[in-house]
Amino acid sequence: MITGSWIIKGLREFTLGGYEKASKSFTALPDITKTSVLITGSNSGIGLAAAKQLAKRGATVHLACRNEERAEKAKNEILEEHPGSNVFVHLLDISKLPTIKPFVEKLSQDYKIDTLVNNAGCMVHGTDSSKRLTAQNFEVNCATNTIGTYILTKAFLSLDSIPSKIITVSSGGMYTERLNPNFGMSPTDTLPEKPEKTGPYIKDATQVYAQNKRQQVVFMEELTKKHQSTEFSTMHPGWAETEAVKNSMPDFHKKMEGKWRSPDQGADTIVYLGLEKVESGKFWLDRKPVNTKLCIDYRGGDSQSNRDVFMKNLESLYAEF
Ligand SMILES: NC(=O)c1ccc[n+]([C@@H]2O[C@H](COP(=O)([O-])OP(=O)(O)OC[C@H]3O[C@@H](n4cnc5c(N)ncnc54)[C@H](OP(=O)(O)O)[C@@H]3O)[C@@H](O)[C@H]2O)c1
Repeated sequence: MITGSWIIKGLREFTLGGYEKASKSFTALPDITKTSVLITGSNSGIGLAAAKQLAKRGATVHLACRNEERAEKAKNEILEEHPGSNVFVHLLDISKLPTIKPFVEKLSQDYKIDTLVNNAGCMVHGTDSSKRLTAQNFEVNCATNTIGTYILTKAFLSLDSIPSKIITVSSGGMYTERLNPNFGMSPTDTLPEKPEKTGPYIKDATQVYAQNKRQQVVFMEELTKKHQSTEFSTMHPGWAETEAVKNSMPDFHKKMEGKWRSPDQGADTIVYLGLEKVESGKFWLDRKPVNTKLCIDYRGGDSQSNRDVFMKNLESLYAEF
């Protein structure tokens, strides 16, 4: 049932058609100067599109990427399209958990970041442990999408001068999962020979990714309760045609031919949230706050006790790394 409702919702709202319908009520966004935005995973796709749109409007843009060559190429692209804009490259692999706090500490000595955009994300499939496990033996999707993203967010929140906005790019895929508070939270030495259906090491990582994206929504909501001076927003870009989609979901990519949004359209709500003052703690699609659950389909998972277990897990990982 959850899949049926999700597909109907997706075809109606997440596609190019959904964007075209929603964007009829969009108004022009203001220009901003004197604002600095750090975007993770901004060398391609939605992150790069957001960086370009923000640079165009006068923001100083910090690209936090794991590959220097790809990041420099992205920086040059932005400068070519928007000459004179302020763009900086920083190296950060968000799955390398012990490197995140030192990254933020060093960065904060030289720059003040007003807006953090947690955009980096992945859906790595397969049972090859060299690809699926990090150096600390965490499953790589969980390390990148949930744990690393949380550690980065908390590290920024522990600075003397904290960002006024934090935006996390989740996914409509999260509608298919209810919160599993322990999912991916512990290291492991080996991948199981037979992939488990409900564990974080299933061969096809679609479910892992969806759970990670649900976890992002939950931790952003929980952080909202604790940090009143920062505006937290989680958003869903819709279905935008990017390298990630082509490589990680080739069948879905083919099936949806002609219905994909462009990366620019996927990035629109990131830019909107970066420029406009909005209510903190909401989940956004196409510049509107939307439900985080498919009503009756969600069934449990969202109890405060489950949330508390999840946040405790994340906090102990934050303390460890
Ligand atoms: N496209 C969609 O339809 C869609 C739908 C829902 C949600 N999203 C979300 O949108 C975000 C952007 O994805 P996209 O579709 O634009 O795909 P993309 O073009 O592949 O961009 C993903 C970015 O994340 C970076 N990244 C991945 N792992 C990283 C790590 N460990 N450390 C640092 N950077 C890392 C990638 O860097 P490399 O180039 O080095 O790999 C890349 O720059 C993701 O969070 C994704 O889950 C996308």
